[in-house]
Amino acid sequence: MKYYVLFGPPGAGKGTQAGSMVERYQLCHLSTGELLRSEISAGTPLGLQAKTLIEAGNLVPDEVVEGMIESKFRSVKNVKGFLLDGFPRTIAQAEALDAMLAKNGEAVTACVSLMIPDALIHERIAHRANIEGRADDARPEVVENRVKTYHAKTEPLIEFYRKAGRYHEIDGVGTIEEVRERIFTEMDKF
Ligand code: AP5
Ligand code: MG
Repeated sequence: MKYYVLFGPPGAGKGTQAGSMVERYQLCHLSTGELLRSEISAGTPLGLQAKTLIEAGNLVPDEVVEGMIESKFRSVKNVKGFLLDGFPRTIAQAEALDAMLAKNGEAVTACVSLMIPDALIHERIAHRANIEGRADDARPEVVENRVKTYHAKTEPLIEFYRKAGRYHEIDGVGTIEEVRERIFTEMDKF
């Protein structure tokens, strides 16, 4: 099985690019953000716990997302691998992922990182706010906190995967098609 980490700051294009990636490489797309938003819409206890944190632009506890990912690994069949979008997001999550995979003698195949400058993050999220109506896109101070949280807690993963020889950075600036071609060129090598 292949395990790809689709990495990048908020608004980098992870969700946008995931569709064509899962199709081309026959992967299962697992977005912890999307899984959490469905828990919120379904009004589950987990959703209620996550709602306040997400709407303030803070991360939910590591154990919550780790549990969601591990249960998907067990239940999803008939795929060549997984595309992890928005997970891991802390060093602790990355270590938990390694431990989960090591139990079955597996490991992260590659971290595919979409990189855009902070100014573009704000531009893209402001654009999406008018289309998708995500609660965490609506207020500039929440978006600002998501960016701050990314730099403080998630960015250290770049070094984590670089040290492991698994880090592949892709320029996320350009049209959706241009970025998609860059991703395919890189991923065709794995
Ligand atoms: P999550 O849903 O993962 O949000 P995020 O990381 O902030 O990323 P986004 O979904 O905002 O960005 P994206 O990269 O998918 O961009 P998109 O393709 O939509 O997480 C939400 C929250 O859940 C977190 O804040 C946290 O609270 C919680 N959470 C989730 N995972 C967690 C974890 N592991 N641990 C703890 N908490 C967790 O693109 C953005 C916009 O740009 C779209 O409108 C798109 O059309 C446009 N666009 C994309 N590419 C291009 C392009 N090339 N040119 C022009 N426009 C483009
Ligand atoms: Mg997304």
